[in-house]
Formats: sequence, structure tokens, C-alpha cells
Amino acid sequence: MRKTLRTIEWVGHQPGALLPGKVRLIDQTRLPAKLVWIQTADLRKIWTAIKTLQVRGAPAIGIAAAMGVVAAVQKSRARTGAELATEVERAADYLATSRPTAVNLFWALDVMRRLARASHALPPAELKHRLVAAALKIRDDDAAMCRAIGRHGAKLLKDGDTVLTHCNAGGLATAEFGTALAPIYTAREQGRDIRVFADETRPLLQGARLTAWELGQAGVDVTLICDHTAAQVMKEGRIDCVMVGADRIAANGDSANKIGTYSVALAAQAHGIPFYVLAPTSTFDLTLASGGKIPIEERAAEEVTHGFGRRTAPRGVKVYAPAFDVTPARLIAGIVCEKGVLRPPFGPALRRACAAG
Ligand code: MRU
Repeated sequence: MRKTLRTIEWVGHQPGALLPGKVRLIDQTRLPAKLVWIQTADLRKIWTAIKTLQVRGAPAIGIAAAMGVVAAVQKSRARTGAELATEVERAADYLATSRPTAVNLFWALDVMRRLARASHALPPAELKHRLVAAALKIRDDDAAMCRAIGRHGAKLLKDGDTVLTHCNAGGLATAEFGTALAPIYTAREQGRDIRVFADETRPLLQGARLTAWELGQAGVDVTLICDHTAAQVMKEGRIDCVMVGADRIAANGDSANKIGTYSVALAAQAHGIPFYVLAPTSTFDLTLASGGKIPIEERAAEEVTHGFGRRTAPRGVKVYAPAFDVTPARLIAGIVCEKGVLRPPFGPALRRACAAG
């Protein structure tokens, strides 16, 4: 098994003791120039890290938020478990305001809230230990789910295939190993040769800065393209399938992912190329009937008007900057989760996957 980069971890101050501790995460805004880790137990800094994409990718921000809750309450002087549970709610409410689209954030915060509510009769010290254990379990479960997604997704690839991907749904976006990139890593571990075309992913260049970097580090043959080159390489017959991640998948299979994903799906359909979405069940939101209800984050205008360290658009120009779009289920050939490859109709398939233990 390939040694992977661990994107986000909890590190105890003392060897052998988890509390007190700090969140340790890769600052993804510094890549690819520098591999820098941030270590902090400051709730505001963790909120800012999520907001500013120092940590990004749906599963990774869920893990960061769960660890953020622990960081917020670990030194609490609460005299009862109930008082501590109230502090957990307060930290979770605050972290929930960081980014709206990736459901993994709310899912992970809910795990922490439910634990605190259910265990409020415990002494605070015991509850703190349960909270840190729960955050670590979210991290470890995510790593295991990514491995499983890799195993299922690798069956969709044959030796010599070329995959097109958009944004970064690799190890950096998860605990480790990734979702959309997991089948590529697994297929390579199995001795197959898989090539990747990576969309640069305007405006924040997650494809250029992160996907190209992490695939390069892993020795995968990667070709970087401008976003609008995707349809052209499909027409040239260079792409066997598309694999992307997701931030939230509605009950009917409509999938929110980085802005531009929908265009890639349309182009894939026009060229008869299968388009796969890869995500753990923690990304499924069965409370939403369809993608129209998924909250879409809008980012600051400066992310579009500025690039290359300078202004690249006229002062005062109007900007529309949704960070995500929704690909309708009808354009998706399969959704790969830790339970297997789900095929249309996605409604029953998603329900079955969530119900299976
Ligand atoms: O704005 P970002 O960089 O957090 O957007 C990330 C994506 O769109 C990813 O594709 C998605 O979160 C899946 S990560 C496994």
C-alpha cells in the first residue's frame, strides 16, 4: 500500500496523551510552492482555515470542524457535562457558519453535537475524552472510506486509461488518499498504468495547484489543462472517463461539486464518455429531494477580479462567483461510495447505501 500524506491530524501536546492537543493540517493555500503545516487549537483560526481554503475539500473540512470542536472545549472549566455540552453546541454553531455547501461539515458537527447531548450526564473530563475519540474516528473512518472508494472505483478503470478530473478530490481534500483520485492510486497499486488530465479549476486553481502537485508527488502521469480545454481533449479521443468528487449529493443523485463540474459533465455526455462522481456516504444529503435545494456558496469578487498577484479585471466590474454547481443525476453514469458503485436510478440506490451498515 502506498504511503500517503496525512492531510489533517490531531496531535497531543504530551506524548501518549490526546488532551490537550492541536489540529495539524496542511496549509493548502501555500501549495505547490511550499508544504507548510498549520498547528493550532484556536477556534477562530480553525474557522478561518476552513473559510480561506487553507483546509478544503468536503471530507477534510468535516474533519477539521470536528477537531475544532474539541479544540474549543478541551480547556473548558465547565463543572458539569451539561455545561460542556452547551459549549460544544456553541462551537459547532460557529464552525457551521464557515462554508455552506459541503454537507460533510454539518454531518461531522452533528456527530459531535449528538455525542455531547447523549453524554451530558458524564463528568466533563470523561466527555472531553469521548469528544476527541469521536473526532479521531471521523478522520480514521474517512481514510477507510477513501480506500474503499478506491477499490470500487478501480474496477471502472483498465490498464492504459486516461481519466479527466476537475478541482481536487484527492488526498488533500480528505483524511488521506482522496475520493476521485483514489481509484487512480488503487489501480496503480494493482500495477495498472493510469493517466490523468487535470482541469486547472478557475478561479482558485485547485486543479493546477493541488491535483497536479499531489499526482506528481505520487508519480502519476498528469497533464494540466485549462478548464475550457476539457471538451477539446474529449473530442480528440484522449479521455476514457471523468472522475470528480462532490460536496453534497441530493436524494435523487444530483451532485454539487466545484464550479465547472457541470460543464465537464455536459461535455462528457456529448462525447459519450462516462462521468462518475466519487464520494463517501457522509456527502449524501437525503433530506434534500433534488439538487435545486443545495445551498451554493458565493465567494468574494476579488477571487475573480484578481489573479497572478494583481488585478486582472477593470475596477468596479460586476462579478458573479458561485463556488459550486450542481450536475443533474441524468448526466451521471455512477456514484462510487464506500459501499460500491451505485447506478441509476440513484434514489433507491442512495437510500440502500445509507441503510446498509
Ligand atoms: O472549494 P473547495 O476547494 O473546497 O471545493 C472542493 C471540491 O469541489 C471537491 O471536489 C469536493 O469537496 C470533493 S473533495 C473529496
